[in-house]
Amino acid sequence: MTDHIELINTLKETRSLSDEGLKALMRGGGECDAALFSAADTVRRAIYGDKVYIRGLIEFTNYCKNNCYYCGIRRANQSLQRYRLSADEILECCAEGYSLGFRTFVLQGGEDPYYTDKVFCGIIERIRAAFPDCAITLSVGEKPKESYQAYFDAGANRYLLRHETATDAHYRRLHPESMSLENRKRCLYWLKEIGFEVGSGFMVGSPYQTPDDLLRDLRFLGELRPDMIGIGPFLTHPETPFAGFENGSFELTLRLISILRLMFPYALIPATTALGTIRPDGREMGLRAGANVVMPNLSPVRTRKLYELYENKICTGEESAQCRGCLERRVESAGYRIVTDIGSAKRETKR
Ligand code: 5AD
Ligand code: FES
Repeated sequence: MTDHIELINTLKETRSLSDEGLKALMRGGGECDAALFSAADTVRRAIYGDKVYIRGLIEFTNYCKNNCYYCGIRRANQSLQRYRLSADEILECCAEGYSLGFRTFVLQGGEDPYYTDKVFCGIIERIRAAFPDCAITLSVGEKPKESYQAYFDAGANRYLLRHETATDAHYRRLHPESMSLENRKRCLYWLKEIGFEVGSGFMVGSPYQTPDDLLRDLRFLGELRPDMIGIGPFLTHPETPFAGFENGSFELTLRLISILRLMFPYALIPATTALGTIRPDGREMGLRAGANVVMPNLSPVRTRKLYELYENKICTGEESAQCRGCLERRVESAGYRIVTDIGSAKRETKR
């Protein structure tokens, strides 16, 4: 226990730790977890106070040309009814979100060729014109650099693309051969170069993952220095090749949230939907372990169940206003407060 306290203090003071130290904190357990969460909360409060930023998630298409082994909307899942939202429908979601206090819209979808650059830029331009005081975040996967540039020029500001795992051999076990870690990383660096605020992240407890893989995830994030870091437990989906695998560990995910907060004090770290799915109070506990963002769903209720990345996903029956109210209460019960400003990552002034 005293060893752990020392490790936590070193990480808190220096933002870095040896591989062995990080692995010991990941193993955690008992009282050292409580100390780790509390150190992360102290750091988070020093920079962000009790503020929690909200992002409205619009899941606009569940068509996907990819076949990732973990994901429920993979191309080969033929039991899934597919849908796309029109530009008008997406704008309606934004309008509803705006009236509920959202100032960031996250357009998330599968890699759907229907939305050519021209079509997609048209949608981004309409949102930009209608909501000039809002951030537009995209989460639509790997694209050519020119496409990213076109989205940026059309008015998008932020981009979420999890690296999923920073270990090449592990990446290949989670994805078919058509995908590569190399390209994923290239995309992330392009996005940064273009000027997007970038979010990356990984799944915790995905099949075949080892502690060394997680270590490489942390080290990769140290190189990339993203503004936002999203992590959540791997959750099984029956219509995927990983149907027989166990869910990732809730506790390990919490420990990693705290470790990330201590390594990257300024990062925006969401308490994710996957965390709220694996445990009913998962998001509240994520906030208390160092997370400072929540992303309630703004998608139309009729399509929510169809965007099923994993089994038993929460918030699929609720109206947007219900989700907003529900989260407000949850955030307050955890001891924090939702704010409605645009909420970019704070940056350090000197060090
Ligand atoms: N369990 C947990 N997270 C998943 N994602 C996709 N499928 C699953 C799953 N089965 C995550 C991926 C992706 C994000 C949108 O959702 O990390 O980047
Ligand atoms: Fe969606 Fe609670 S956040 S119902």
